[in-house]
Amino acid sequence: MKKIAVLTSGGDAPGMNAAIRAVVRYALYEQMEVYGIERGYAGLLEDKMASMDMASVSNIIQRGGTMLKTARCPEFATQEGVDKGAKILKNRGIEGLVVIGGDGSLRGALDLTHAGIPAVGIPGTIDNDLAYTEFSLGFDTAVNTALDAISKIRDTMNSHERISIVEVMGRKCGDIALYAGINGGAEVIIVPERKVTIDELVFKFTQSRRSGKRSGIVVLAEGAGRAEDYAKALESTTDLTVRPTVLGHIQRGGSPTGTDRLLGTRCGAYAVKLLKAGTGGRIVGLKKGDIYDIDIDKGLALKKVFNSELYELANIISL
Ligand code: F6P
Repeated sequence: MKKIAVLTSGGDAPGMNAAIRAVVRYALYEQMEVYGIERGYAGLLEDKMASMDMASVSNIIQRGGTMLKTARCPEFATQEGVDKGAKILKNRGIEGLVVIGGDGSLRGALDLTHAGIPAVGIPGTIDNDLAYTEFSLGFDTAVNTALDAISKIRDTMNSHERISIVEVMGRKCGDIALYAGINGGAEVIIVPERKVTIDELVFKFTQSRRSGKRSGIVVLAEGAGRAEDYAKALESTTDLTVRPTVLGHIQRGGSPTGTDRLLGTRCGAYAVKLLKAGTGGRIVGLKKGDIYDIDIDKGLALKKVFNSELYELANIISL
């Protein structure tokens, strides 16, 4: 291929800029022309794109968000939308596409491949809910952002002898809660994969009190319930003072960690190599520390396995 494009789609994630930068610069190194499409599939359907050069991606590796902007696009979920997108790319002589995004965005890459534009996907989502890759772009940064918040909340909980229920993002996946919980020393981690009842929560904090501890942190994944509901239930059945904190979109922004920058850089270059060789319909990911690729439909059909070992360990070592 000689002419390709790149877009970011769905929820933004720290590290997307590092991936865009690598796609653009690696493509130029391979003597390919590269276009940046604005606002994901929505921008594609409006033919919003511009040619990119080495300087277009200067000074973005350290930035959160995505310089190309992103959107969720219902029109692209229809066959007409996909055909329109493929036609726009063909009219411009664009032979291949790199899509950076989560599950739905990567499915769009498969649809475009079927419509005649070979597309390659890079996993970009803080949720880490894609089974085919050990980690997705933005997850590490989101965990570190949540950890920073948890450490601050812990100071106050400790001073006032209170419990905080900290709600983190992740949709139906408990990975952000699990990693932020174990690293933040949470007394309890509640995830959709392992629900915890109010009775179990009460038991845990009663035990904790008996051993002299008077404050605590519960990290709750949004897919397992609302912090406010857990806080009310715990407060009404005990004499504990409980406060809910919802971290929200703070977890999606911020400067990417080194881990996310490196993952974005490696995936970006790898995706270009695939397109250069004429390969589409693949998603790029991390397996045992190496970057690899797999058919989009096969990769997205894999079922995410929850890390029970880490979860059990967190339970054993929390007081
Ligand atoms: O998929 C990323 C994510 O941040 C989820 O963790 C969260 O549930 C959702 O997006 C929030 O979506 P929005 O930004 O559209 O409110």
